[in-house]
Amino acid sequence: MSSSLESPILRLQDLHAEFVTPEGIVKAVNGVSLSLRPGGTLAITGESGSGKTSIALSILNLLPHPGRIASGQIYFSEVDLLSLRAEEMRRVRGRRIGMVFQDPATGLNPVLSAGQQVEEIITTHLSVSKREARRRSLEVLAQMGLPEPEQVASRYPFQLSGGMAQRVMIAIATALNPELLILDEPTSALDVTIQAAILEDIDRLQERHGTSILLITHDLGVVAQMADEVAVMYAGAVAEYGPARILFERPRHPYTWSLLGSRPRWDRDERRRLASIRGAPPSLIDLPDECPFLPRCPKATSVCRTSPAPQLAPIDSDAQLVACYNPVYQAGDEEAAG
Ligand SMILES: Nc1ncnc2c1ncn2[C@@H]1O[C@H](COP(=O)(O)OP(=O)(O)O)[C@@H](O)[C@H]1O
Ligand SMILES: [Mg+2]
Repeated sequence: MSSSLESPILRLQDLHAEFVTPEGIVKAVNGVSLSLRPGGTLAITGESGSGKTSIALSILNLLPHPGRIASGQIYFSEVDLLSLRAEEMRRVRGRRIGMVFQDPATGLNPVLSAGQQVEEIITTHLSVSKREARRRSLEVLAQMGLPEPEQVASRYPFQLSGGMAQRVMIAIATALNPELLILDEPTSALDVTIQAAILEDIDRLQERHGTSILLITHDLGVVAQMADEVAVMYAGAVAEYGPARILFERPRHPYTWSLLGSRPRWDRDERRRLASIRGAPPSLIDLPDECPFLPRCPKATSVCRTSPAPQLAPIDSDAQLVACYNPVYQAGDEEAAG
């Protein structure tokens, strides 16, 4: 669905991931297909629990126990990631795909200084001298907007502010210039000013190195600022998918519309959170056969109540995909589409 002729740097095909728990199988990711063009930014958004982090962890084969990939394919620039042996995957991770994890506990090692942690990823993957590793680590810390890299490098995680710790984690993830950078809620815990500064640093890194970015965030302001394309997740599946500009202008899925609808326009440079929608998503253990958004949907019809869950399909153009039997059209759409 990308307009680019280049083949995607990342492509998920009908990915299913689940957690096998005593209560039952939690179907965290239910048939997700996505692609990211080289140098682009694809955002995955949606409420908490919709499966965003599970997608990111699946890509790196890091789903924690009792998680597993049940089926589907993941291609990273033509490499079938699910067919790699553990050793091969370790070489891809960190070197060709960098990741900043949502869970801070997975982020920094409390007993190593910030500088040691950046150096470690460099020496793990490249045969360079200690001195060269140090030089490079200061360089990437400086690149991440840390003005006194020597000073920051000598600090331990507990001596870093939230914003600095996040920058150090991004520095580690980008130390080897990965082709793909996965950022899971990279700025969610930070205040607005620091968030904006970090997003600018990420932007600059991307521009300089042509990095492709998979950005996971529940913050639509971050999506609006960073993404070329957006996938809106609901109950482990993509509800709507397309260029960010189009989705913000003409959301067709009632879920996307609800998230955006009660809000002012999206092209303003302001921080936005998802609007809260009445009701709760379904249990991922007992997913309904029909549309998972049905109980909360303001547009549901009898077709929705009697049909299997709708599949993603093009709407208006090939660029925009929606999984809905009764998509939203509003006055003025025709002009906007023309
Ligand atoms: N380790 C786990 N064990 C059991 N269920 C999990 C585990 N991790 C995540 N889940 C479940 O998988 C679903 C998707 O979670 P997640 O991918 O973290 O969503 P998001 O990142 O969108 O908040 C949720 O229902 C969550 O409770
Ligand atoms: Mg998450």
